[in-house]
Amino acid sequence: MQVLTVNLDDRSYPIYIGEQLLSQPGLIRQHIRGRQVCVVTNETVAPLYLDQLCAALDGYQVDSVTLPDGESHKTLDVWASIFDKLLSARHNRTTTLIALGGGVVGDMTGFAAACYQRGVDFIQIPTTLLSMVDSSVGGKTGVNHPLGKNMIGAFYQPLCVLADTSLLTTLPARELSAGIAEIVKYGLISDYEFFVWLENNMDQLLAGDMAALGYAVKRSCENKADVVAQDEREGGLRAILNLGHTFGHAIETAQGYGNWLHGEAVAAGMVMAADLSWRRGAISSEELARVIQLLQRAHLPVKAPADMTPEQFMELMGVDKKVLDGRLRLVLLESMGKAIVTSDIDPGMLQDTFEACKAN
Ligand code: NAD
Ligand code: GLY
Repeated sequence: MQVLTVNLDDRSYPIYIGEQLLSQPGLIRQHIRGRQVCVVTNETVAPLYLDQLCAALDGYQVDSVTLPDGESHKTLDVWASIFDKLLSARHNRTTTLIALGGGVVGDMTGFAAACYQRGVDFIQIPTTLLSMVDSSVGGKTGVNHPLGKNMIGAFYQPLCVLADTSLLTTLPARELSAGIAEIVKYGLISDYEFFVWLENNMDQLLAGDMAALGYAVKRSCENKADVVAQDEREGGLRAILNLGHTFGHAIETAQGYGNWLHGEAVAAGMVMAADLSWRRGAISSEELARVIQLLQRAHLPVKAPADMTPEQFMELMGVDKKVLDGRLRLVLLESMGKAIVTSDIDPGMLQDTFEACKAN
């Protein structure tokens, strides 16, 4: 097992990464301060892992909430159902919420923990590759609004993250690929050596090789923890974690939540960001081709939907959280392995990127 730390002064917490961690109850139990626990999961993950987790929590008052599965259910209404259980089962301020699921469950549980009785403890047990390498770490929590993704939420850190890579054996291949998109992101924004490692180890990752997956989760979490420790509330640097996301969120919103997976939209969005970076002279055409090739090898989309117009992109990108004082800001590459956030964007180049990156 590897143990990393997210350094945030008195809110620092460990990330445990390894195989069969769910069968080591002490790892979770040491972080539970009261006698009550509420596990939040969904209808897909519950039959797979809820019993195993409940067994590890023997002796506590354990309640569970099983949410409907999918991004389209990441709504205020579904989120509010977590409070129905907490209140009806009389959970008090010393309760601990445990998120058992992917990023949707994790984001909703964290936000519920931030709000229930003005804030209770919570633990992240991510069960998808994407949630292990990204959403469970760093304390961004929230839900979607019909007018924008993740528009309602809070920064709220967990007490620990337990990334049990054995849970990935049941993950569908399409979801594994979606997680790889966020892994590639770290290589592009801050870790060129890791990008090269990914070029050399993509086949092992896709085959579910545990050693390769464990390394990729660890290296990704190291990169993310480093950024979060420097800029927890996204005053500046943290925005680089959103490479491809401004384009990607526009794709997700336009296509209807859940039709494109988050990681798929991020993959196409990263190609758009890399394409614009190439037009600005920051990376070479060969480097742009390497980005596209790596994502293609991971079976990820590298083109935006054919029916999305530049006007639609611009309108949807206008509600992005990185827009400041009406000015669009984008995360772009300064070089391979280094990202910048800029509002100095040539409209003509952006138009060319929209055209070049659209599927036929
Ligand atoms: P998800 O939570 O929808 O999970 C993907 C699918 O896999 C679901 O159908 C789920 O039920 C299923 N699943 C989960 N674990 C499984 C397992 N072990 N075996 C079989 N099936 C399993 O999607 P995701 O990709 O994990 O997360 C995407 C969400 O995360 C989006 O809402 C996105 O906005 C959010 N996100 C948040 C952050 C953050 O910093 N908070 C970062 C990135 C993404
Ligand atoms: N996924 C972006 C962030 O955590 O800031």
